[in-house]
Amino acid sequence: MPESLAIDGGTPVRTATWPAMFPGGTEYGEEEKRAAIEVIEAQSPFRYYGTNLLKKVDQLEAAYARYVGTRFALATHSGSTALSVAIAALGVGPGTEVILPAFMWIADVNAVIHLRGIPVLAEIDETLNLDPADIEKRITKRTKAIVAVHMAGSVADMPAIKAVADKHGIPVLEDCSQAAGASIDGHVVGSMGAIGTVSLQYNKNFTTGEGGMITTSDDVLFRRAICFHDGGFERDMQGVSIPRDSPFETWGMGARMDELRGAVGLVQLGKLPDIVRRMRGHQLRLREALGKLPGIHLRRLVDPNEDSGAYFTWLHDTTDAAERFTTALKAEGIPVSPPHGGIHQYRHMSNLLKNVPVTTEGCPWTCPFNKESPMEYNASMLPRSNSLLDRARLISLPPSLTEQDEDDIIRAFRKVARVVLG
Ligand SMILES: Cc1ncc(COP(=O)(O)O)c(C=O)c1O
Repeated sequence: MPESLAIDGGTPVRTATWPAMFPGGTEYGEEEKRAAIEVIEAQSPFRYYGTNLLKKVDQLEAAYARYVGTRFALATHSGSTALSVAIAALGVGPGTEVILPAFMWIADVNAVIHLRGIPVLAEIDETLNLDPADIEKRITKRTKAIVAVHMAGSVADMPAIKAVADKHGIPVLEDCSQAAGASIDGHVVGSMGAIGTVSLQYNKNFTTGEGGMITTSDDVLFRRAICFHDGGFERDMQGVSIPRDSPFETWGMGARMDELRGAVGLVQLGKLPDIVRRMRGHQLRLREALGKLPGIHLRRLVDPNEDSGAYFTWLHDTTDAAERFTTALKAEGIPVSPPHGGIHQYRHMSNLLKNVPVTTEGCPWTCPFNKESPMEYNASMLPRSNSLLDRARLISLPPSLTEQDEDDIIRAFRKVARVVLG
């Protein structure tokens, strides 16, 4: 006789609340406090000069470039501005297209549209990230960049994406915001494409509350990024303003990081490997324990031993099975949800994409330079992505998860699977 499910009046596996999923934020402690106080006591919160400049942002950039394995890193005040700066550095503008996955964050598309480029949406695969096999048919002579967004903790199939991109000479931007600390075969996210970005917003694997970083090993992209992020002005490689004409000077934005974030970010970066190690440990155990249950298909991880580990993610055979399983598992006290709570950016923004311009003249949609670009957007244009996202479910795995928490997931999962999928 199987145990009665909580939805049928049985006893739930768990009633205790789930630990909060702010992987970097819940690790804040004395070190972050001391780092912030040091900057306040130095009375020098601006990165480029001050009465007693501690150069915390410089140190964060150097440490992050070392960690990721790129020649350069540039700190910004958010992941969104990191994207806007990186997209600008790549030369996106009127008459260009950028290929992006169906499952991404709205900032990826914002960055393209603000510069009057055209977002071209592509399917995802079982990694829930950009499908390398779907890119080629969307490439045109106007394609300026491909954006691989490493969503919900896990890395897109970068070797396969790079193979297609390299064949066509198109740079890849990696948005690593949701997968900081992950890697493929020792290559850390942010080092595999021409340029990478990461958000340090509160939900992320390491955090300054708000913040972002750009990584690249390309001198020209780096110099352009420096200008775009700082009002358009050129600075030299040490960050000093260069008062002369420069081929990199442009119309830029104000996206500099401040020293308080730099100081806290440096401490958090030091904690990132341990945060990821712990989340990865939870994920490996759950994948091992639950991956072979009938009707459960694990999300494909390109390198399962080097994931960021932030989520345990699987797919059901049908949307109906996913919904029934979710309702029953939640009743057992396990906080399961569809990716991004079911708000899949491309589907929910397809009205915006069709109807809302960024200027009163209707740009980028009406821009004459864009008239050859595909601009058909609707919520069912990427059926495979819709099916994958509707059938996918995930459980967040905060670093602080205990063995008891993992045991609860395993017990509840098996209990529900026996009845609902059995
Ligand atoms: C994939 C992705 N890209 C970009 C961003 C934007 O970062 P921010 O919130 O720091 O502007 C986020 C964050 O929410 C994200 O998840």
